[in-house]
Amino acid sequence: MIKIDLDNLPQHIAVIMDGNGRWAQQHTIGRIRGHRKGAQAVRTIIKSCREIGIKHLTLFAFSVENWERPVEEVNALMSLLEEYLTKEINELHKQGIKLSFIGDTKRLNPAIREKLRLAREMTSKNDKMILNLALSYGGRDEIIHAVKKIVSDHAEGKIAVSDITKENFNKYLNTAGMPDPDLLIRTSGEYRISNFLLWQMAYTELYFTKVLWPDFSKDDLFMAIASYQKRERRFGLTSEQLKEENIRTGNRTNV
Ligand code: FPP
Repeated sequence: MIKIDLDNLPQHIAVIMDGNGRWAQQHTIGRIRGHRKGAQAVRTIIKSCREIGIKHLTLFAFSVENWERPVEEVNALMSLLEEYLTKEINELHKQGIKLSFIGDTKRLNPAIREKLRLAREMTSKNDKMILNLALSYGGRDEIIHAVKKIVSDHAEGKIAVSDITKENFNKYLNTAGMPDPDLLIRTSGEYRISNFLLWQMAYTELYFTKVLWPDFSKDDLFMAIASYQKRERRFGLTSEQLKEENIRTGNRTNV
């Protein structure tokens, strides 16, 4: 078992769950069965994060670019999502997990949107962990949407140009109210961010592993956290400044 420091956990972990297709290929089965196996890894990781006390977990379940995949695959991913929300919601609720969703969810079919609404409503008072699913999500789209809303609020006199600050910009994003991710995990040996949380990951620690998503285990999660815990997060400061600041204020959080 990998050792991690439970007093120095990332408060927000974001995950790009990549490699379902290659896992399926390796096992000479269809891609859809790879995604099904990937959904099992989703269960394991949520449970492990909840157990150790991670406060926010964001999973990239479906990107805005994924709509361009073959229609059978898109449909299968949608069915899997619907099935997941139907079967897992009671267990998630029991574990005190609050569900939230980011992305252009209006593009999802009405049955899934209704499931999202119910899941959000049912778990709204839970506070053990926030599970944030990115669905039909694209970072550039999110930023453009925020800019359009700021322009329209400005035209209506609701925001002055001088009030367009980093902090206020955050409020226009899908992730309003959430801390930025401290740690990004990407599986399958690809070294890209792929349009995920572009604004929010300015200071996120990046962790890449060759493990394919369906094989990603609790041990793999702990390895990622252990790697994060070895790093010094300087937020643009020098090591010396950081030490002084830590002594003065305790640990620095995301700014
Ligand atoms: C990337 O693998 C994964 C996806 C596009 C979808 C992620 C979906 C899941 C993990 C399962 C469903 C999720 C939930 C929340 C029920 P890929 O297909 O790009 O793999 P490849 O690069 O090896 O082809």
